[in-house]
Amino acid sequence: MKQVLVCQYISCSANGSRKVLESFQANQTPDFEVIPSECQGQCNMGPTVRVLPDETWYSRVKPEDVPEIMQQHLKDGEPVERLLHPRFHPRW
Ligand code: FES
Repeated sequence: MKQVLVCQYISCSANGSRKVLESFQANQTPDFEVIPSECQGQCNMGPTVRVLPDETWYSRVKPEDVPEIMQQHLKDGEPVERLLHPRFHPRW
């Protein structure tokens, strides 16, 4: 099962990561598990969302982005390109 880590540490929290977490939790399906996480080391690009075991990193995630991540990535297996963290997923 996929795990969705939603950072709840200082910088991400200041940028609204609580609401991102709540949005995942409110729409929980058997496709994934939501885990509030500690700092993921990407504080200037938060809220940070990391999907395991894929090691897909999302940056600056907003609550309104959550349905798209859930449908396209967690259900259909296709990461949401526009939200990918450029450090981990550089565009060529
Ligand atoms: S506070 Fe979220 S990545 Fe550091």
